[in-house]
Amino acid sequence: MRAKCPVAHDEFMGYSLFKNEDVKFALAHPEIFSNRVSTRHIAVPNGMDQPEHTPFRAINDRYFTPERMQEFEPKIRTEVKSLVEALPRGEDIDIMSEFAKLYAVRIQNAFMGWPACLEQPLIEWMEKNRAATLRRDRQEIEKVALEFDGYIQDLLRLRKEAGAQAPKDITTELLHDLIDLSAISPGEDQRTMTDEELVSLIRNWTVGELSTVSACAGIIVNFLGKNPQEAQRLRENPSETPAAVEEIMRLEDPLVTNRRLTTQDVEVGGRTIPAGSRVTINWTSANRDEDAFEKATEYHPGRNQDNNLVYGAGIHVCPGAPLARLELRILVEELLAATESIEVKTTKNSVYPVVGYSQVVAVFQ
Ligand code: HEM
Repeated sequence: MRAKCPVAHDEFMGYSLFKNEDVKFALAHPEIFSNRVSTRHIAVPNGMDQPEHTPFRAINDRYFTPERMQEFEPKIRTEVKSLVEALPRGEDIDIMSEFAKLYAVRIQNAFMGWPACLEQPLIEWMEKNRAATLRRDRQEIEKVALEFDGYIQDLLRLRKEAGAQAPKDITTELLHDLIDLSAISPGEDQRTMTDEELVSLIRNWTVGELSTVSACAGIIVNFLGKNPQEAQRLRENPSETPAAVEEIMRLEDPLVTNRRLTTQDVEVGGRTIPAGSRVTINWTSANRDEDAFEKATEYHPGRNQDNNLVYGAGIHVCPGAPLARLELRILVEELLAATESIEVKTTKNSVYPVVGYSQVVAVFQ
């Protein structure tokens, strides 16, 4: 499609952008490529445009600073170490069902300050969400979203009732964090977020973690198993891990698409997209574009990653990227430190829009 029809139209996706350059153009013009693709629910901050997006985005960014990540690193390492130690040696294990979800949910719970009893319901929720998305079943997607809202509302209510005795964690912090709306709504200076805004923000963090990061676990184990020489190089040189993870993510992007809505007629890649059109940004394709990356389909961890769009770009660039990079680095480090070899026996691809693999059967020695 990149070579033949880089801006393609179909009923389901609207206008798909396949070229790295065209995707970057859309990301650089949020006033033309709006994120308000749905008016049914608020989506904090990904369904918002400027100026509303700015203060809600500021709240997000406060929780993923380098200082917070540094403080959180030992907790992630403890969780990942114990999960890796528990992996059976010398026998088949399906990483997707036995490891990936636990890995993501444990980190999510530790980050948010949620209790261990929420682990299983969240894993089941993730599965229901995945199945409903696969079936494109709107009613079920709505029902599943409501179920999640219930869990979060309970956590928020408990913290409100506890007052000063509430646990000192990120969930409590979010409850009291002030959003500065003075620039967009004169007279309404600073206020705490409404329950609806809080639940939406937390849902988006949770989906980032539970669905995207758990998909990454399968992608990474599959890569290490299929590239034993590179696994050994990283085992001996752990400082090379961040660059390797970035390149693995470029090649096997754990997020395939995101959507936009045009606010005016716009010319992209030689084609005019009319105002009011649905646009699909294809991250997977943009990250394999031969005009943006030399030998684009090959793995070269030393390459320049300036055009890598795995975490997006522009005002909606992933706020959780520092956390994702940290947990993926620790995953690779701990998997390689605890094993002599990783063999991948079988894999099954997921079906769009779910990403990565639905099964990765591996043997650890
Ligand atoms: C490897 C894992 C991840 C990948 C590949 C990823 C990728 C992305 C991408 C490409 C975007 C931009 C979407 C767009 O422009 O429409 C995005 C946005 C976002 N991501 Fe992530 N993400 C990951 C993990 C996370 C995590 C761990 C969190 C939170 C804990 C998170 C929270 C968000 C939020 C809230 C947005 C919306 C930002 C905005 O609209 O301003 N993501 N992510």
